[in-house]
Amino acid sequence: MSRYTPKQIGFMKEALRLARQGWGIVSPNPMVGAVLTKRGQIIAKAWHTGPGRPHAEAAVLNEAGRAAKGSELFVNLEPCNHYGRTGPCSEAIVEAGVSKVYYSVLDPNPVAAGGAAALESAGVEVDEGLLAERAWELNQFFFKWVTTGLPFVILKTAASLDGKIATVTGDSRWISSKSARNFVHDIRAGVDAILVGRNTAFKDDPELSARPWGCRKMHNQPWRVVLDPYLRLDRTLKIFNPELGGPTVICCSEQADKSSKEAVRRLGHTVWEIPKVNSGLLSLPSVIAKLGANGIQSTLIECGATLASSALIEDPVGDLVHIFLAPKFIGGQEAPTMIGGPGLPKLDEIKNLEIIKIGRKGPDIHVMVRPSGAFRPPFSSRPIESTGKDLVDSGERDIK
Ligand SMILES: NC(=O)c1ccc[n+]([C@@H]2O[C@H](COP(=O)([O-])OP(=O)(O)OC[C@H]3O[C@@H](n4cnc5c(N)ncnc54)[C@H](OP(=O)(O)O)[C@@H]3O)[C@@H](O)[C@H]2O)c1
Repeated sequence: MSRYTPKQIGFMKEALRLARQGWGIVSPNPMVGAVLTKRGQIIAKAWHTGPGRPHAEAAVLNEAGRAAKGSELFVNLEPCNHYGRTGPCSEAIVEAGVSKVYYSVLDPNPVAAGGAAALESAGVEVDEGLLAERAWELNQFFFKWVTTGLPFVILKTAASLDGKIATVTGDSRWISSKSARNFVHDIRAGVDAILVGRNTAFKDDPELSARPWGCRKMHNQPWRVVLDPYLRLDRTLKIFNPELGGPTVICCSEQADKSSKEAVRRLGHTVWEIPKVNSGLLSLPSVIAKLGANGIQSTLIECGATLASSALIEDPVGDLVHIFLAPKFIGGQEAPTMIGGPGLPKLDEIKNLEIIKIGRKGPDIHVMVRPSGAFRPPFSSRPIESTGKDLVDSGERDIK
């Protein structure tokens, strides 16, 4: 049985809902929402709206004013304890006279941590753990980057029910439904970078921009990152269009032509030299490490078959995989499948994946899996979100 009342759970759910409004807006900061209550009623609500803006706790105290005295605060992350672009939230909470703070998870950022201890020593009661798992999930990009220096990596692939990503003639648009594609645009809107292989950039000529729910322009476009070992991509492709906003980074090998590197740089884009691995492809872990070193907290890899093979089998880098299966058969021995590359020769070399959700996006099946080696929640176990029965009966339920 939960040690929290349904009302307390409801208040933290509201804080998490508010925090989620920072999706794609607040990076490199975490998404934080805050709810202030008195005698079981909400008296103020707020969320962190971006770097340099007031933290959710400061904003909610400001909204409540003197009414904050004797109140209870529900917030999805431990209040900070440091002077950054704004003052320490722990001090503001003590000064406002808040009597108890419920926070879901500790802040792993060593610079900001220590708020809970500071509150306790000032006589404010604190409680850790209310909806901790959901709060961890919400800010897993931030938590991974702060604790490892690497971005959280999401992979996405869409295929027919027989696992094909294109027909024998290479026709690939669109296999998945509009609902699935809208969902991917929502992910694009929340990540710091989108990464593709050169063939996808060439064949599909994508913008690699986030256009969630029909909104074309976002003020913060993710970085576009393309693996093009010999810089052979045509510079009239959309990824080179400077008007799209957000930088384009082309990853190439040392052997790439010097004049091609200069030509890409002259267009205002960035060129990174990346070492090659035995297969002759660029080292994906090196690309991911370089993104992390440049402050990128999250990356969406939109996988062609070759890139899926590198990212999932040869040099695994993924933390979460979204697979969309459209209810159609494409067939054809030569039609490309979801994962190309050389494949694994023996079944006992294959690592099991953890299914964390089976659901639907419009007519498509949506499967979310966590590869072995992925960044994991610091909680003992995670139940499977849905069963085969849910797949038939229910609509969609997202935990992102
Ligand atoms: N259904 C989906 O969800 C989905 C998503 C994306 C793309 N696609 C489809 O996938 C097709 C393209 O897939 P693809 O397999 O031909 O190519 P790809 O995965 O898009 O790109 C592969 C190429 O990228 C370069 N590369 C460099 N380092 C790499 C690394 N570590 N791992 C993988 N690639 C690396 C290589 O270029 P070099 O050859 O120069 O060495 C390699 O041949 C397109 O038709 C596109 O429509 C489908």
